[in-house]
Amino acid sequence: MDHQTSRRFFLHKAATSIGLALSAPAIVALISACERDEVTPNVPRGTTCDVDISTIPELSSAGSITLKLVDKLNGGSPVFISRVAQSTFVVFTSVCTHAGCEVGVPDPPVVSSNCICPCHGAEFSASTGSVVRQPTVGRATNLRQFSTAFNASSNILTITV
Ligand code: FES
Repeated sequence: MDHQTSRRFFLHKAATSIGLALSAPAIVALISACERDEVTPNVPRGTTCDVDISTIPELSSAGSITLKLVDKLNGGSPVFISRVAQSTFVVFTSVCTHAGCEVGVPDPPVVSSNCICPCHGAEFSASTGSVVRQPTVGRATNLRQFSTAFNASSNILTITV
């Protein structure tokens, strides 16, 4: 091995080692970011969140849907609230099960339509959160639903984490 080849060999090895050392934490951070828990840490399952439906005009009629950030619910990501009937609500995450993008509100915002993920085109039923069209690559599963109870006299929707 001549001097020039030896130097090139050393530089190649050094660059490879530095690249591996720098990229390992980045890969770990990337994997952690992809493993978003849909329940806010330190909020135990079974915790309930109350939402006053009278304060959400988008949900004033049956068949409507909106996206809402609810404190303590869904790890800081908004949830879909679908008013599938006058006193029946379905709540499900907006975090796409394919790669974690935020799924969009249907246009028009009605439960008979689909929520579409802008990243790879997966579509979910706006009344249940179940997959109705798979993404262009890979597979998605149904959006996680939260259990709900609605008190029609107080207009309070209770969502369980
Ligand atoms: S992240 Fe939603 S379809 Fe890919």
